[in-house]
Amino acid sequence: MARKKIMFVSHGNICRSPLAQALFERIAAERGVAAEFEVDSAGVADYHIGEPVDPRMAQAAEQKGVHLKHTARRLKPSDLENYDLILVMDRKNLDAIDELTSDRALKRKVRLLRDFDPQKNGQEEVADPWYGGMRGFRETVEVIERTCSTLLDELQTPHGVHPA
Ligand code: 4NP
Repeated sequence: MARKKIMFVSHGNICRSPLAQALFERIAAERGVAAEFEVDSAGVADYHIGEPVDPRMAQAAEQKGVHLKHTARRLKPSDLENYDLILVMDRKNLDAIDELTSDRALKRKVRLLRDFDPQKNGQEEVADPWYGGMRGFRETVEVIERTCSTLLDELQTPHGVHPA
C-alpha cells in the first residue's frame, strides 16, 4: 500500500513544524504504523533555511524525551503536489500557501493542524511561541502531542480524514 505523505508547515520550520513531524513520527512508531507514513516539515518563510531547531524548542521537546534533529527548509510549490495532507499551524501559514498556488485541488489538501485538537476550545491556531518564554514552548509540545495523536487516530480509521 502506498505510504500516506504528511507535511507539517509553520513559519520558520525551526519550532512548531519540526516538533510536529517528530511527535507524529514517534506516535506512529509507538503504534507500530510508522512504515505507513512519509512525514516531513517545511516553513513558509525563508529566513531560517539551513538552520537547526531553535534551542528553546529542542529543550522543551527533550523534556518529553523527543530529540529534534532537523534542518529548516522552505515549502516549495512541488511539495503541494507531492504530499497528500498539509497541516499548517496558523492562518498566516494558510495565507502564504494561498500565494504559492491557485490550484483548488491542491488547496483542499491543506488543513489547520488544530482542527484535530480534541481540546481545541475555540483555538484554531498552534500559537507561535517565538516571542514568549519556555512556558509557551512547553505548551506547544502539549498541544501538538495530543493533536498528532488524534490526527493519527483519524488517519487510521476508515471514516477519518482522507488525504487527497
Ligand atoms: P516556527 O518557528 O514555529 O517553526 O514557525 C518560528 C521561527 C521564527 C519566528 C517564529 C516562529 N519569528 O517570528 O521570527
